[in-house]
Formats: sequence, structure tokens, C-alpha cells
Amino acid sequence: MIRKGILLAGGTGSRLWPITLGTSKQLLPIYDKPMVYHPLSVLMLAGIRDIAIITTPEDQPQFQRLLEDGGQWGLRFTWIVQDRPEGLAQAYLLTRDFLAGAPSAMVLGDNIFFGHGLPEILARADALETGGTVFGYHVADPERYGVAAFDGDGRVTAIIEKPVVPPSSFAITGLYFLDGRAPDLAAAIRPSARGELEIVDLLEHYRAEGSLQVERMGRGFAWLDTGTPGSLLDAGNFVRTLQDRQGMLVGSPDEIAFRKGWIDRTGLAERAKAFGKSSYGAHLEAILRE
Ligand code: G1P
Repeated sequence: MIRKGILLAGGTGSRLWPITLGTSKQLLPIYDKPMVYHPLSVLMLAGIRDIAIITTPEDQPQFQRLLEDGGQWGLRFTWIVQDRPEGLAQAYLLTRDFLAGAPSAMVLGDNIFFGHGLPEILARADALETGGTVFGYHVADPERYGVAAFDGDGRVTAIIEKPVVPPSSFAITGLYFLDGRAPDLAAAIRPSARGELEIVDLLEHYRAEGSLQVERMGRGFAWLDTGTPGSLLDAGNFVRTLQDRQGMLVGSPDEIAFRKGWIDRTGLAERAKAFGKSSYGAHLEAILRE
């Protein structure tokens, strides 16, 4: 079955007050484009075109105005509301009908990935029909994330959410490739002490049966954080630095859709025109002239 996508777009980001003005932080700009373009681009790079977008009830109209129905990128969006933020694993309960037994790739709306070889590691994860794949990334502050513990042979022995004493420096990023059983397995999870259906508890099912792959993203990758005003600014500067140096866009659904052949020149031209005199629109114009 063809893998479907889940984009979990939610949350105001409490450490970002007051710059989010109470709306989802994923609508904030990372330099020249909205944050949510980045995780969407990752799903697209994985070849996924059928995507459920989960938002809070309040934020859904804003996301719909920005992302429309996906047709402008040759995608199909299904809009799903999460009434209360009761954990990442809840996303699999909300998307049960949408997935209809298909394997999925879920990405968190504030996760930004960049690196040479990203399409290849996504293709590897997509190729696995049973089990799951998550991505480990070396960070300076693992206690802020889900963290993988490894045994002497490098096999993962546990994934622990925000451990006080991290068992390794490998955070598990917010990108999860799981097989078609995920909704059933999520239904068996009980809320944690903080009242959430934890993604690590879902992953534990796969790990315990030996079907969880932990792909390490090496030092040539960037997995960026946007949780604080400073890290948000850093992410914007990172994108600006790369784009200015290379003259190429980072995290553009328009460019990816065009290069994948999901939209034609006319489609891209319409998008470029819609962005008017902005630098983003100029980048799309330049792609048309290549
Ligand atoms: C969530 C997950 C955590 C993961 C992180 C990645 O944490 O619970 O396991 O490492 O996303 O962004 P949150 O950012 O919701 O605290």
C-alpha cells in the first residue's frame, strides 16, 4: 500500500509568547517562508502526496488559508481537528479512517530537516513495509527530547521521553515512519503521568518486537529547533545563509512539486505570480528560467 502522510500542526509554543499572538507557531516565518513549509517539504521529498493535516479547531482556518487543498502542489490534504493536545500518539487515532490500513509518515509541524542525502534516507524508511523507522540526531541538550538508549552492539534498548539523565546524546526527531498497525497499537496505549498518549510508548511496541529501525542522521544534517525566540531566529538565519550562498530554496513545496513533476510549468508560474514581488516569488521565477 502507498504510504500516507500526517502533518501534526499544532501548539502555540509557550516559550514563544508573545510573538505567536496566540496562534500556532508553525505559521511563523523561518526567514522567507512559513515554518510549516519545512515539515511538509519532508513528506513531499519522501514521495508522499496524500496528507492529513491535524490542527487545533481554532487554527484550522488559518492553516487552510495558507495551505489550501494541496492541489496547487499536486497533493491532497485531508483536514482533521485535534480538540485537545493529548499526545502525539493520538494523531494515529484521529487518522485511523484516513490511513485505512496504509503505512504512514508523521512529521511534527515545527521540525526542520536539512541535509545532503535526505531523499535517500527517506526512501529507505519508505521501503520498509512492516515495522517502523525513526531518526536519531546528536544534540547538545538531549533532555529536551525523546532519547534513544543503545546497548554495546548499538541496538536501541529504549526510547525515553525527556529523561532527566539522558542515556545518550541521540534525540529522536519528530519524524516517524510506521506501518499500518499504528492506529491499533495507539489504541492500546494508556495516558502517561502528564496525561498524554506518548509517542515513545507507541514506538516501544515496535522496538520490543524488534521492528524499529533507528536511522542516525549524521553530522552533515541539520535538525533545527524553533522552540525559543533565539532558536527561531537561528533557524531563519540558517535558511537565509544557505539560500543566499547557493541561490536555491530550502523547504519549498513549490519547488519540490515542480521537480517531482507533480505540477507543470504553468502551475509553478501561477504560484510565482501569486507571490508577487517577494524574494520567494523571485526564486520560483528563477527556477522557471533554468
Ligand atoms: C516531541 C516528542 C519528542 C521528540 C520531539 C521532537 O516533543 O515528544 O519525543 O523528540 O517532539 O521535536 P515536544 O517537542 O512535543 O516536547
